[in-house]
Amino acid sequence: MFDILLEILSHSWIRNSLLACGILLLIRKYAGNFIQQVFFAKIYNAALGTYHQTCYTLKKQHLESMKNHKSADPELKKKGGLRILEIGPGPGYNFEFYPPNSELTVVEVNPFFEEQFFKKQVDHRHIKMERFVVGFAEDMKSVPDNSVDIVVSTMVLCSVRSVEGALKEIHRILVPGGKYYYWEHIREFTYFWILFVQHLLSYTIYDMMFGCQLNRKSDEIIKANKAGFSNIDQQLFRTPQKGGLHAICIFHSAHVKGIATK
Ligand SMILES: C[S@@+](CC[C@H](N)C(=O)[O-])C[C@H]1O[C@@H](n2cnc3c(N)ncnc32)[C@H](O)[C@@H]1O
Repeated sequence: MFDILLEILSHSWIRNSLLACGILLLIRKYAGNFIQQVFFAKIYNAALGTYHQTCYTLKKQHLESMKNHKSADPELKKKGGLRILEIGPGPGYNFEFYPPNSELTVVEVNPFFEEQFFKKQVDHRHIKMERFVVGFAEDMKSVPDNSVDIVVSTMVLCSVRSVEGALKEIHRILVPGGKYYYWEHIREFTYFWILFVQHLLSYTIYDMMFGCQLNRKSDEIIKANKAGFSNIDQQLFRTPQKGGLHAICIFHSAHVKGIATK
């Protein structure tokens, strides 16, 4: 057995390949998170921009009803604003959908988005920025119970460590009657071959590069309602498939959007 091993290792290309794999694994273990976050914030941002443009009208329609919601805070209510918390805002594409005079807190795990986020905020002065918290949606301990009118997440549940944990936290911080607006890509619901590729990518390169699970059943986890929302209204849909970057996006065209009420 030992002889066979020595024989295999006597080939320099095998030794070099093993060495390269070892180095890659070490980089992944000790610097993977850092590299992934920088990559995501600096490069993937362009893809997010295209996605945002493609989905703009649909997303606007989905978030529109927020304007009719009344804040639980009498002062904000007078001004027509809302206390909003967005999880995983990235560079801040959702600013424009929020009603004027709203107060916004965000909980974002990737600190490399902060600079882009505040640059974008300059164009949206109708929103008062309260706090940019670098942290996990699954653990928002700096946000008090029953303190937020609206929670928003768009394309975030695919990346959180625990969807159940995030939902529990969202439910905790919402005021009674408060609403959670979500828009998430999910596991393919029609075509088996797409689901197959989603599985392949999710357990390999996609998770490694983007920290994202393409095959996540966020819709089913939300519907299971372990967090205890009083009402969940959700629809499955597909994002429009257009050219450019979207040619590859058939693998995350299956989506769910919905509003969960505390
Ligand atoms: C695909 S991006 C979407 C960005 C933005 N919501 C949008 O729709 O353009 C996913 C975002 O979620 C953030 N994120 C991932 N896991 C998170 C967690 N556990 N808590 C908070 N944010 C998280 C990522 O850093 C990233 O900004």
